[in-house]
Amino acid sequence: MIKVTFINADGAVQQVDAEEGRNLLEIAQAAGQPLEGTCEGQMACSTCHVIVDKDWFDKLPRSVEDEEDMLDLASGARRTSRLSCQIIMTTQLDGLVVHIPAESRNMQGL
Ligand code: FES
Repeated sequence: MIKVTFINADGAVQQVDAEEGRNLLEIAQAAGQPLEGTCEGQMACSTCHVIVDKDWFDKLPRSVEDEEDMLDLASGARRTSRLSCQIIMTTQLDGLVVHIPAESRNMQGL
């Protein structure tokens, strides 16, 4: 099993088992994390945005341009932000740590 750790904005830490081949959004939602994932992986929203731990960011496959465009719209996006629906779990990602951004309904927020 692949282990993934979610760290919430309030500091709560949750470690879960992730199945190979599933995307990180599905795993986060199954674990009860507050990611909406409105477009269900179509790269047409940014509500599945997570901030990848800096030690892990470079180990992930690179994002494509469409993903970068959506991340530009995500509130609270950082240099290590990714769309969780685009991260497919592999055994290489065992131990992955991601931060769940604070919930924000205000898409224009700075
Ligand atoms: Fe919409 Fe990931 S679920 S971009």
